[in-house]
Amino acid sequence: MERSGFSSKVGFIAAAAGSAVGLGNIWKFPFEVGESGGAAFVIVYLAFCLILCFPLMVAEIAIGRKAQRNPVGAFVALGYGKWSIVGKLGILSCVLILSFYNVVAGWCFGYFVEILLGNFSIGEQFPVFVKDIIKVGSYSILFMATTAYIVSRGISGGIEKAAKILMPVLFTIILVLAGYAMTLPGASKATQFYLFPDFSKITGEVVYNALGHAFFSLSLGMGAMITYGSYVGKKDNIISSAVAITLLDVGIAFMAGLMLFPMVISQGLDAHGGAGLVFMSLPGVFGNMGPVMGLVVGILFFLLLSFAALTSTVSILEIPVSYLVDEKEMKRPRAVWLVAAGIFVLGIPSLLSNGYSGFFTKFITYFGASDPTDFMTFISDVASNSFLPLNGFLIALFVAFVWKKENLFEEVSNGNKRFANTLIANFLGFSIKYLCPWILGIVFVLNVLDTFFGLTLFG
Ligand code: PHE
Repeated sequence: MERSGFSSKVGFIAAAAGSAVGLGNIWKFPFEVGESGGAAFVIVYLAFCLILCFPLMVAEIAIGRKAQRNPVGAFVALGYGKWSIVGKLGILSCVLILSFYNVVAGWCFGYFVEILLGNFSIGEQFPVFVKDIIKVGSYSILFMATTAYIVSRGISGGIEKAAKILMPVLFTIILVLAGYAMTLPGASKATQFYLFPDFSKITGEVVYNALGHAFFSLSLGMGAMITYGSYVGKKDNIISSAVAITLLDVGIAFMAGLMLFPMVISQGLDAHGGAGLVFMSLPGVFGNMGPVMGLVVGILFFLLLSFAALTSTVSILEIPVSYLVDEKEMKRPRAVWLVAAGIFVLGIPSLLSNGYSGFFTKFITYFGASDPTDFMTFISDVASNSFLPLNGFLIALFVAFVWKKENLFEEVSNGNKRFANTLIANFLGFSIKYLCPWILGIVFVLNVLDTFFGLTLFG
């Protein structure tokens, strides 16, 4: 039976780029850049995207399309049932990631509403806002319900349709805002910090962060691309799709920096603002732009953030749903609402971990650390910073040594007849075998030692 899927290549690219472009690009990327030395981080990040992530993205999409299955069933369908553990780890990661991602997405939507009501002091109220459990809980339920509704409508009628509307809007908003930011007085100073690297800033930690971020940002390592790949038509060109998805993701992250740094620096604020850059500093920045301009820019910004998050939450939810639909023969709507409700409940500790509950706020103290880490950061450290690179490492091992380059190339050649003799093919084959497994494996180990045990080997 022909599997239902995306109605066109553009639809697939929109949905997959929607998955990739998310809070990672607009919220996290600029603050990682700010914390890790500006342009130096950007360069390491871009290098990882090109050298490791792009080949892995092609591999994930090809596995999905060949197998026509969810990430667990895919390995079974290819004839390597034991490797389905990789898919299971992917599903576990996505459940954990969505549980806290949805909380932050709820904040974004909440900020959109607050700014719409003219409350520019919401930035100063951030610590109080995140503790208002009824409020943030409701926003987060609303966000999960919207996500579930889209996923329940299926691939072409739900996910693809939403992405085809949301992505162009998102792109337009970011272009307008980045263009506006370039006219602000601090723009050239801000751009300098962002574009001219100080290589002395590149430490081991910058490298792990850059790799972790590249992975998260391109939605790799949890089977999102295997799942979406399983809905791609056999005649579609995987390489050009993966190029488009990577460029859109990297391009939008880059523009998010061009948009944010001038806004923040033009008002004399510090660009090294950490996680608070968006939620604490920006509303005040909007407030100072004057009542009308501030309102317009502020509303557009938080709308942008909410839309970016929505196309990502949709892709994360689709992974366990596709598993239940394929493997447990569950009806889609039932699987969707069940998983969404379960993940929301699993996210409650994250919801409480920003000051409301002392237990979850000071959840765990890593070895060698002086301060405790909150639950939400802990889950993010485990799932996005550790499981994703680990899974990426395993997927690379699988493709390089079990499934083999020949099978990968054969699948990629569907829709791209001359692929096998191209330069890209040589590069992909080399990266998947000689770069991805080793670099990912090493960085995974070093990162775990660094994050959880305080052992920085290349500090
Ligand atoms: N790529 C998304 C972001 O940048 C997050 C994500 C990770 C989505 C993994 C799907 C899978 O925000």
